Formats: sequence, structure tokens, C-alpha cells
Amino acid sequence: MSPVMTLAPGEAIPGPWGLVEALLVLTFAAHILVINVALGGTLLTLFAPGAGRETAVGLAKRLPSAVAIGVNLAVPPLLFASVLYGQYLYTAAIVSAVPWLSLFMVVMIAYALLYVYQPRAGAPGAGLLSAASAVLLLGASLILVNVSTLAVRPDLWTGYFSAPAGLVTALSDPTFLPRWLHFLAASLAVGGLYVALFSRKAADAGAGGRSRTGLAWFIGATLAQIPLGLWYLLSLPRPVIERFFGLHTGGSLAFVAGLGLAAAALWAAFRGRPGRAAFFTALAVVCMATVRSVARLGYLAPQFDPATLPKDFQIGPFVFFVASTVVVAAASVWAVAAYRRTAKRG
Ligand code: HEM
Repeated sequence: MSPVMTLAPGEAIPGPWGLVEALLVLTFAAHILVINVALGGTLLTLFAPGAGRETAVGLAKRLPSAVAIGVNLAVPPLLFASVLYGQYLYTAAIVSAVPWLSLFMVVMIAYALLYVYQPRAGAPGAGLLSAASAVLLLGASLILVNVSTLAVRPDLWTGYFSAPAGLVTALSDPTFLPRWLHFLAASLAVGGLYVALFSRKAADAGAGGRSRTGLAWFIGATLAQIPLGLWYLLSLPRPVIERFFGLHTGGSLAFVAGLGLAAAALWAAFRGRPGRAAFFTALAVVCMATVRSVARLGYLAPQFDPATLPKDFQIGPFVFFVASTVVVAAASVWAVAAYRRTAKRG
């Protein structure tokens, strides 16, 4: 066995860092998109339930799966981030252990509440169930913004020495609030887009109206990103901001492409095309996930750069990983198609 396997995080990596970073960006984008659907959809059951609660009923059918898929899609970025930034992520999780370890219980209760809500979504008063679930999911997002911010601010870890109870927060970081609001607005936008996507396929008379309401949420929340995104950008440390204005070619390109794709998504939504808007949104999220990775590199430089870590490319596990991904993806497509065929037959 290679001795690299026994090393602590931050000592060496089992493959080229660019490959691991690319996988981290792609899997994180998938995680956050589905989480946006789960949180945004749960909030829209409250803010836009529909005249006869049809939107809420349509969402309720889909939300438990969205939470389950979002949580499953959290595992790959957790593992890839651990490979490259393990010493930062683990320490951030340890100093904020109380919220971090609560995360799993918080998400499980939110998930269970959405199941209880599912058959009752059309009934008066059921909104209390989705409201409780929304509060817990919002709590989960705050826990993750906290740990992700702590993971790039090692100077805040010293809080542990004055209060070693696992309750260190990054609330004093100027990016905390705009970072979270940026995620919240994205969730409302993607939740609205999701409503537009599934409503346009419905056959009832109100489907067109529901699809337009979903698009209106997408447009409104995406326009709100202009001041929120600007606030978030300006709250970043100067050396990090400069990476998006020419200092880092990939970061600058991803930033400009992300903005362009978001504008294209808005344009498609204005023209009543939810499918196209979803396509551009997914690409914009991949660009923004790249921007987030470049920002992390900027925060950690010059003390840490994963590109300088010694590597021992373990091709066997990598091939096994790719092969398993392909098999699982094929099995998932087959399972969804089989489910749809059975559902159509009644
Ligand atoms: C319970 C299982 C979950 C796990 C293990 C998990 C894991 C992670 C990890 C490891 C990251 C950071 C990836 C990186 O550093 O590149 C992340 C980011 C994030 N997750 Fe999840 N997640 C989970 C569920 C959720 C839920 C339920 C929400 C919200 C409702 C959520 C919202 C977020 C947000 C907003 C970020 C980005 C934080 C930021 O950069 O400011 N996650 N998650």
C-alpha cells in the first residue's frame, strides 16, 4: 500500500489537484442546485401556494425527494473538499461542532416534516408543517455557510481557546450575511423555476398561470441578486476580489461567464421559456461554483495552495470511482424511466 494513504489531510493528495478541484466544483454545483429546489420549493409552498393550493400540492409531491437527492449529492463535494482542504474543513467543523453535528438531525426532521406535509398540502393549516420544515432548512443553510466561512478564516479558530464548547461562529465575517442572502435568493429563483418547469406539463386550466407565477419568482429573485451579489462581492477581501478582475484568468472568465449566463437565463424567463432558463441557470451555477473555488484559493494563499501538495496518483481507485459513477447514473436513469412507465399505466 502507498504510504500516502496513511497521511493526514494537507500532506499529500491521491491525484492531480486540478482533477479533484474540477470534481469538487461539478458535484458542489449539483448539490447546491438540488438544495435550491428543496429550500426554494419549501418556501414557495408558503409564499405562492396558488389559489386552490395547487402549487403547494405540486411541490409537496416532489420536496421529500429533493431533500433526499440534495443530501446524497452533498457526499461527493464533502469527500473532494476533504481531499484538498481537509485540514481547514475538519478544523472548522470541530470548532463549530455543536451546529455542525446538529446539521444531520436538523435536516432529518425537516425531511420528515415534508413527508407529513405531503398528503396534507391542500388542507388549511398544513402550511404550519412546511413552515417548520423551511425554518429547519434555513437553519441548515446557516450552519453550512458558517462552516464554509470558518474553513477559509483560520484566524477565527482562536475563538475556540476562549470558548472551547464547539460554538465558534463566523458571524463577525463581513461576507457572512451577503453570502447567505445570495444563497437564499438563488433558492427562491431556482424554486420558482422548478415550479414553472413541472407546471407547464400539467394539463389542467390553471397550469399556465402557475408556470407564469414560477417564472415571476425566478425573475424577481434573480433581479434581487444584482444588489445582493454586488454586496457579497464587495465584502470579500481585496486580494480575493482582484482575482475576478484579471488577477486569476480562470476566475475572471468564470465570473464574467456566470454573469452572462444568468442574464441569458433571465432573458429566457422573460420570454416564457422555463426549459432554456433552467439550462442557462445550471451552467451559471457551475460558473459560480468555480468562482467560489477560486475565492477559496485566494483566501488560503499564500499559506496554502493545493497545487503544491505532493501527489501520488492512485489510478485504480480513480478508475473504480468513474466506473461506479457511470453504473449508478445508468441505474438511476433506468429506475426513473421504469417508475414513469408504471405511473403512466396507473
Ligand atoms: C445533511 C447533509 C449535508 C451535507 C453533508 C452537506 C455538505 C456540504 C459541504 C461539504 C459543503 C461545502 C463544499 C465545499 O466546501 O466546497 C456544503 C455547502 C453548502 N451547503 Fe450543503 N450539505 C448538506 C445539506 C445541506 C442542506 C440541507 C442545505 C440547505 C438547506 C445545504 C446548503 C449548503 C450551502 C448554502 C452551502 C454553501 C455554503 C457557502 O459556501 O457559503 N446543505 N454542503
